[in-house]
Amino acid sequence: MIELDTIKPYFEGKEDVLGEILGRYPDYGRRSAIMPLLWEVQRAERHVSEARLEEIAHIVGVHATEVKGVMSFYSTYHEQPVGKYHLQICSTLSCSLAGSDEMFDFISEETGLVNGETDGSGIFSLQKVECLGSCGTAPVLQVNDTYYERVTRSSCKELLDALRSGEMLEPPRERGGDNEGAEKPKIGSEQRVGREA
Ligand code: FES
Repeated sequence: MIELDTIKPYFEGKEDVLGEILGRYPDYGRRSAIMPLLWEVQRAERHVSEARLEEIAHIVGVHATEVKGVMSFYSTYHEQPVGKYHLQICSTLSCSLAGSDEMFDFISEETGLVNGETDGSGIFSLQKVECLGSCGTAPVLQVNDTYYERVTRSSCKELLDALRSGEMLEPPRERGGDNEGAEKPKIGSEQRVGREA
């Protein structure tokens, strides 16, 4: 196990960030901050290492196994670094019926990755995930925090090409929420992946 004193703590020098997160909860509910603290670390480091996990446990006053339990319950947290662009393809029924298996195969072919893999240059990680909660706009591809819905073969290709050049395209506004406020070039979406109309 990595000792905390060999690595600069993530929240050292980020007291304002830490204070803002902890301030959302009363002192007696400090363990509620586990998830936002994990998220803060993961956003910055693309995974949560053992040392960060221990740091968070120390901050909220619980045992590291409790933090690890939270992490392992949610597929959104990663113990190993994921690529700059984490491609998550919903493989649950609605998306599967709408062509997500074909979308996965297409992305796998394009990136040369199999499920759960990250490429050598750390650009893409590919992962099949369970329902992303947007079944009405299947098939859904999530890239980092952003949802791309009703993805088509052509829009998928367009997106991958843009990501390769470091550009996140703005998704069509289907559900708002996570995608609100994005100021990015729009992705085209005329046809479904594997079900070209
Ligand atoms: S089945 Fe894919 S978002 Fe629900």
